[in-house]
Amino acid sequence: MNPEELKRLVAQAACDEVLKLPPGQCLGIGTGSTANWFIDLLAPHQGHFAGVVSSSMASTQRLIQRGFYVLDTNQVTDLPVYVDGADEINPAGHMIKGGGGALTREKIISAMAKRFICICDASKQVAVLGQFPLPLEIIPLAQPYVMRSITTLGGEGHLRMVGTTGQPFITDNGGWILDVRGLSITQPVQLESKINQIPGVVSVGLFAQRKADLLLVSNATGVEAVAHTQ
Ligand code: 5RP
Repeated sequence: MNPEELKRLVAQAACDEVLKLPPGQCLGIGTGSTANWFIDLLAPHQGHFAGVVSSSMASTQRLIQRGFYVLDTNQVTDLPVYVDGADEINPAGHMIKGGGGALTREKIISAMAKRFICICDASKQVAVLGQFPLPLEIIPLAQPYVMRSITTLGGEGHLRMVGTTGQPFITDNGGWILDVRGLSITQPVQLESKINQIPGVVSVGLFAQRKADLLLVSNATGVEAVAHTQ
């Protein structure tokens, strides 16, 4: 199976899972190529949900184009499920996210949700997080300070740019992204707290304190479901 088929397969499994919810509830939907498959496959069933909240402008646009009723997070008090992809996931269900730059809104919506369903293919499963550069959303004027602070933690921050334009990538919140290389993340919960403490960091793409409750992971033989307790 090629990578797109694996994404489609796991997205279909997530659709089957969320359609077990009683009708009339709100659903949280993430960002990225796997989340895009989820949006597309769920579109014929959008009437099952009272509405959706989305973790990025890109997902919001796609959802609206496909007929979903997109709510602002401020309008939602009860969010049973959030479905999103990941860049890496370890055996405990801790994740690195933010490859698409949407980590801050992903954190907010996953924190609001009762259950986080992570959808990915088996290439995202790792023993120890950190091969994938860890994204941080930062306040632009704090860049040099955050870079230095990250160095003391053993990492190397690289400002994310837009292709070869020489311009920094700007998040939906007006922030910049530092991609941190060189970390072997053996204590994700502690590292998440430490990085959150650095002034100028808006959020860190470590999802360890709020990890996945359910991992749906696709491989050549099908989709495996792995439950994690918080
Ligand atoms: C976006 C994310 C995505 O969930 C993550 O990058 C995985 O994306 P994809 O499904 O395209 O591999 O965190 O900020």
